[in-house]
Amino acid sequence: MAGKSSKPIQVNVPDSSETLVWTANQTLLEALDQADISISHSCGGNGICGTCSVKVQSGLDILAPMEEVEKDIASDRGFGPNERLSCQTRRLEQPASSELTIEIVSTN
Ligand code: FES
Repeated sequence: MAGKSSKPIQVNVPDSSETLVWTANQTLLEALDQADISISHSCGGNGICGTCSVKVQSGLDILAPMEEVEKDIASDRGFGPNERLSCQTRRLEQPASSELTIEIVSTN
């Protein structure tokens, strides 16, 4: 039985005037990196450093819920409700919305 292909998600990064497409098999960090958008990821995407965090301005409903690794960092660092760790963030296959807008918290 053929599955439905996942919905393309457009990601807007107003600070860099960039727009990219996020496919279902990537983390948000991988999608940003593929589009050459500068974002810190000191631990290489292993959910340790916390430098890859982003603030979601719109489209939170596109994101899959946090898993344990991200929950631990979010609680250690006091993340706000719209803050996510991009290396640990995955999107839903078929979210209701198709557009996500994020602010990159740190780029150094
Ligand atoms: S790159 Fe280190 S926590 Fe995401």
